[in-house]
Amino acid sequence: MGKRKRIAILFGGCSPEYGVSLQSAASVLEHIDQVKYETMKIGISRGGDWYLYEGTLQDIQEDQWLNKAYCTPIAFLPNRGRASLLLLRDDGLCELSVDAVFPILHGANGEDGTVQGMFELAGIPIVGCGVLSSALCMDKVRAHRLVKAAGIRTPCSLVYEKPYLEADILDEAAALGYPLFVKPVRAGSSLGITRVAQSRELIPAMERAFMFDNTVVLEEAISGIEVGCAVLGNDVLTTGEVDEIELTEGFFDFEEKYTLKSSAIHVPARIPPDDRSRIKDTAMRIYRELDCRGLARVDLFYTPDKEIVFNEVNTLPGFTSHSRYPSMMRTAGWDMSELITKIIELALSTHRKG
Ligand SMILES: Nc1ncnc2c1ncn2[C@@H]1O[C@H](COP(=O)(O)OP(=O)(O)O)[C@@H](O)[C@H]1O
Ligand SMILES: [Mg+2]
Repeated sequence: MGKRKRIAILFGGCSPEYGVSLQSAASVLEHIDQVKYETMKIGISRGGDWYLYEGTLQDIQEDQWLNKAYCTPIAFLPNRGRASLLLLRDDGLCELSVDAVFPILHGANGEDGTVQGMFELAGIPIVGCGVLSSALCMDKVRAHRLVKAAGIRTPCSLVYEKPYLEADILDEAAALGYPLFVKPVRAGSSLGITRVAQSRELIPAMERAFMFDNTVVLEEAISGIEVGCAVLGNDVLTTGEVDEIELTEGFFDFEEKYTLKSSAIHVPARIPPDDRSRIKDTAMRIYRELDCRGLARVDLFYTPDKEIVFNEVNTLPGFTSHSRYPSMMRTAGWDMSELITKIIELALSTHRKG
């Protein structure tokens, strides 16, 4: 048995999805193979400060980790060939090497290519998607344009920035039709998203979305079922089982995602096997089209006419043991530890040099 690889697990982050990241990271830390990997827990505060954290997983889950007794400020070196981080101790600097970084960060400043860029620059292997795919998948409008150009249906949409003219928007939205969805172009966990049933709700919904991004998209509401497909791999791809979100009211908003109060998730989706295969094939096409590698969860709609419509790709999907990506992979035979090992190995084996 060779030396254990040292994996820096990043959690928290300067993102509205900070709290979600804490749960995902605690789950990865709980399930990672300790024989193969030595983990280094790197906490990023809401304000964007980085620390080496040496406390318990429970304190991560309960957001009690940012405590002086367990945290040492750190900095990564952009210098290629060093692959290390600097501990900024009171008594001086200390350099620690790393073999790969696993950014378990959701949303802005983590899932959007920024952190990926920093480590690509430093020449440190990073788990999951790289700069281009992370940035593209974070941008719902640009991802839709590329997927549509590949011949896959996407919802009709309108894009706005400020300043906007209310009268124009109301006319254009009427042409798109109600109900429609208003979304920040770059966000996650349904934050800032509203299902708008009538014109008088539109402008307040847009203002809510503008709280999360400078660009807002209005999308036709797709009727049918929401389905997802876990994709794994770099060149050779494999998928998990397709899942289905059963909604009884509203849409899959922040509260539903993390409480499943009035919704349920079925794996496999309760749709014919042939259609599940079509969904998997479409998900893999989208994954390649958006240059994904490592892993991603591709979310789609399956309409009453059995048509597949693209919704979005999550390059760092939720990773608790009951989250959708691990559940879809588990149903296809991958347990959580095996899955984590595989995605780390994908990063280590194909790290782009030079
Ligand atoms: N065009 C649409 N038609 C129907 N439902 C939608 C549409 N867009 C979003 N939704 C609903 O809103 C939820 C969140 O939207 P999504 O685009 O996935 O954003 P996020 O990145 O925040 O998850 C979806 O899971 C779905 O329930
Ligand atoms: Mg979504």
